[in-house]
Amino acid sequence: MPEQPSIAVVGLGYVGLPLAVALSEYFSVVAFDKAPQRVEELRAGNDRTREVTQETLAGATLHLTSEAADISACDVYIVTVPTPVDRENRPDLGAVISASRAVGAVLRPGGVVVYESTVYPGVTEEVCGPILAEASGLTAGRDFFLGYSPERINPGDRRHGLRQIVKVVAGQTPEVTDYLAEIYGRVTEAGVFRAADIKTAEAAKVIENAQRDINIAFVNEVTKIFNRMDLSIYDVLEAARTKWNFLDFRPGMVGGHCIGVDPYYLAHCSEALGLHPQVILAGRRTNDSMGTYFAGMVAEALRGRQSRRVLVLGLTFKENVPDLRNSKAADLISALRQRGYDVSTHDPLADPQEALDDFGLEILPSLDGQDPFDCVVGAVAHDAYRDFASGDFASLLVPDGLAFDLRNMWDDAVMPPGRQRRSI
Ligand SMILES: NC(=O)c1ccc[n+]([C@@H]2O[C@H](COP(=O)([O-])OP(=O)(O)OC[C@H]3O[C@@H](n4cnc5c(N)ncnc54)[C@H](O)[C@@H]3O)[C@@H](O)[C@H]2O)c1
Repeated sequence: MPEQPSIAVVGLGYVGLPLAVALSEYFSVVAFDKAPQRVEELRAGNDRTREVTQETLAGATLHLTSEAADISACDVYIVTVPTPVDRENRPDLGAVISASRAVGAVLRPGGVVVYESTVYPGVTEEVCGPILAEASGLTAGRDFFLGYSPERINPGDRRHGLRQIVKVVAGQTPEVTDYLAEIYGRVTEAGVFRAADIKTAEAAKVIENAQRDINIAFVNEVTKIFNRMDLSIYDVLEAARTKWNFLDFRPGMVGGHCIGVDPYYLAHCSEALGLHPQVILAGRRTNDSMGTYFAGMVAEALRGRQSRRVLVLGLTFKENVPDLRNSKAADLISALRQRGYDVSTHDPLADPQEALDDFGLEILPSLDGQDPFDCVVGAVAHDAYRDFASGDFASLLVPDGLAFDLRNMWDDAVMPPGRQRRSI
């Protein structure tokens, strides 16, 4: 294992691109994505995920490519491809499998293949290892070595980037673990943690996200209870979090590629062992119901009104990112439409074409010049919406209109005369 390995990063999305850029400061890096359009955009300096700036991209010494043959001479492969679920919420390992085939086809003796994609325990060694072995004709653990290092970045979060997060690493042998610790140690200031083995590292990652999902589900459930009692969940949380060991989670719609997906990976693994998970899937059901539930709250607040024009602000799965995957704001919109509301939507970060393709939703090009709405629903706390002032509500809402604040982002906003704000 060379001290200055050449590294291929396979899959240049939210996870792979920042990693490739960071590694390229210390190593020779081939950055490979199977989508030529993505590679073209990156070559032109445009990262649509907004994780890497144009300036950083321009300054990085990456070999960007969509040609699989270009990764052939590398010593270390880091796989960062998507791990979604299918329509039945079963793990879809298609991208991991095809990336493994591509790497296996060019893998040389002594190569190390590290997975960063979130998976259930066993995928690296029991699914990917055999594919790499078959495609390369080499033996795992003797001719080439496996590793796993979960990615823990939080897109849109500038305080917890790659460099500020402890990197968990595990290799097939202690030597490989040390080797990975050395490589990743260059790009993190927070340190490296050597997990007991690959399955342990896989398990740690998947429970981090499942735990988060369950905690949010609990807060969502008590939100429903307190709503029946006319108590504000935010007032309740403000009081409860004064206790030192209260876990501070907020209610909301859990979408995206990780928190709402990874628990299904854990559940799948559990089912395969004959254990039927109760808590994990209950959390998923609760969180998946929230778009429809919030639509019911909005409808209740608007009951009795003649006019039914509603504007939903925010369509991405969370604030300050352009990522539309598994957006639950789309559920909210669809549930409001089913109730007969005339719903418009706006999002300054989402790609309008993607919104149309994925959800059949047209995003308003601008908030300027719109006829005022009966209700504006704050669904995603993008900074642009957080900064709303009285004049914004005055132009967006009819004189007795309602700002329904699902994210508690306007609690300090001064409402113009006649307009009301409601939170959950
Ligand atoms: N997005 C996050 O916040 C986050 C955080 C931690 C972990 N993860 C995990 O990291 C993994 C990647 O997630 P992401 O959000 O970066 O995904 P993404 O969709 O943003 O990017 C994946 C990229 O991989 C490319 N790709 C797909 N199949 C490929 C193949 N066979 N060969 C080469 N390229 C291929 C796609 O074109 C895409 O550009 C997932 O397992 C995810 O669960 C994501």
